[in-house]
Order: sequence, then C-alpha cells, then structure tokens
Amino acid sequence: MRKIPEPGPAMLARKYSVTMNRNSLSPSRREILKNVVDKDALLCSLNERIDREVMEKAGPKLKVISTLSTGYDHIDIKEAKKRRIQVTFTGEVLSEATADLTFALILAVSRKVVLADNYVRQKKWKVGWAPDLFLGSNVYGKTLGLIGAGRIGRAVAQRARGFDMNILYHNRRRLEKKLEYDMRARYVEMDTILRESDFLSIHANLNNESKYMINESKLKRMKNTAYLINTSRGQLVDEMSLIKALKNNWIAGAALDVFESEPLTASSPLIRMENVVLLPHIGSATYQVRSKMSEIAAQNIIEILEGRKTPYLVN
Ligand code: DGY
Repeated sequence: MRKIPEPGPAMLARKYSVTMNRNSLSPSRREILKNVVDKDALLCSLNERIDREVMEKAGPKLKVISTLSTGYDHIDIKEAKKRRIQVTFTGEVLSEATADLTFALILAVSRKVVLADNYVRQKKWKVGWAPDLFLGSNVYGKTLGLIGAGRIGRAVAQRARGFDMNILYHNRRRLEKKLEYDMRARYVEMDTILRESDFLSIHANLNNESKYMINESKLKRMKNTAYLINTSRGQLVDEMSLIKALKNNWIAGAALDVFESEPLTASSPLIRMENVVLLPHIGSATYQVRSKMSEIAAQNIIEILEGRKTPYLVN
C-alpha cells in the first residue's frame, strides 16, 4: 500500500523483511500483483482491491491480509476464507472521530460555513453584518435520522443530544432496549426516516444488499428542506440520483466525505453545486486515530504470524 503513518511500519520492520511502497500514491495493480508474490502477510488500505487474483498471485504462504481501515468492502472475504487467509481490520477506533466529522458536515452544510468562508477569502465581504447574509437552517431542535446504529451512528446520536435533536434511527436489526434508551433514539421504518428527517446521516456497511440503498425513489421521499450526510461509503448512495435530487431541489443539500468513485473526478456536477459540502474521505483523519490504526494494523499481522489471536479478525 501507500506510505502509512507510524508506528506500524517500524513495528513490522523490527521483525520482518518488509516490501513497502514508500510513495504517497497507492501502488498500481501491476505493482501489487508483482510484489505480493510469496508474502506471508499483506497490509493494504481501502484503495487497493484485494480479490481472488491478488490472493492467487500471493500463493499459499499468505496467512493474513490486514487492512488499515474499519471497512473491508475492498477485500473478497469469501475468497480469503476459502484459502484460510485471515482478514483483519482496525476495529472501532475511528468511531468518535468519524462522528465528529459527521457533525462538522451537518453544521457546515446547513450553516453554509464553506461558502461563507470562501466569500470572505475572495474579498467579497464589503458591508458589515447583514440581515440576510448566508441564511441557513437550524440544527438545534431538528430531526436527525441515522441509517445504521453501530458505534459511529450511536456516537453521532450522542453529539446530537447536545443539540437537542429529535433522533430517529433505522437499522437492519432494532437495537436492544438499553442501547436504544442510551441513544435517546426512536426506531422507525425506512419510509418514516426518509419522510421525517431534517438531516439524514448514513452509517451503514457497504455490501451487496446495501449498495445504492439511497436511490432515486428514496431521495424523492425526503423533505425538500432536508440534507443528506454520508461519511460511510460512497456506493451506499446512487450518486447520479443524488445529483438529480440536488439539481431538482428534491432535497436542500448534501454533505459528503465519500463518493461512488474516489477521488471524485473534476467533471462531477457535484463540484459546481453550491448546496453541497465535499470532503476527500477524511472521517478518520486525526493524528491520534491514524496512528492507532497503523499500530493495530501492524499488530494484527504480528499476532497472526506468531500464531496468536487478534480481536480484529473479520472472518
Ligand atoms: C475506514 O477505515 O473504513 C475509513 O473509511 C477510512 O479510515
């Protein structure tokens, strides 16, 4: 994978012979296929698709694939299982940081923070306080809908309580009473969360069933004053339909940290829209979290190569 923060690389270099891409760009598919041959362990990130071909090239020595991420939708887990390769992830370490960023997006899009900042920087601020300058929408007291109530969704709910928000959630399985109570959230069906949320925030895993869970018909059921927030995976939302929804004012705006294809191309209509906030997939991007992720990803490899168990096993 590309160069990653310490301490992971040093931890591995102390024990093993490591082939590491020192580049700040991800390795090409060709480089991955060439360098994976005969390795015991593979450290990857969500930029690299680790499928049957990669595992095949690695050969029978490969015991562990450790991803420097919480999501593992870029790895063919079934294929790994078939080959008895253990797949590990970095657990819930990013939940609080991602919840912080989700809230930053909620505030940024509803209060036009990015537009207003640009306005000042572009020296367009000519008069002082103005009664109608950058009017946005309240966050305080509004209804927040959470699709997905895992650790990140619940951490977002915790922040929302401070804003006195009415919290709804929809999840594959309803949470047990105690968790629901702690979250101060009401479980509702998908249709209700779409119709009632002022902010609809996605915190679900990406898999075959959840891909494009937010599609044209769902966007049409949202309030035209509502905002869609996504800090999970871009492919949970059908981006073409979202663009249509934003252009036709089916919803008021969107704040996105993730996209169907990353990086977002310069030709994406999203880039020219004022009612969106766009970030380059930085949900977990704090020094503290990235360094912990690096440590966990390296430790996962060490544990497995030394015949021990890790709590961060996927399969
Ligand atoms: C993850 O880990 O899955 C995030 O999307 C990136 O840190």
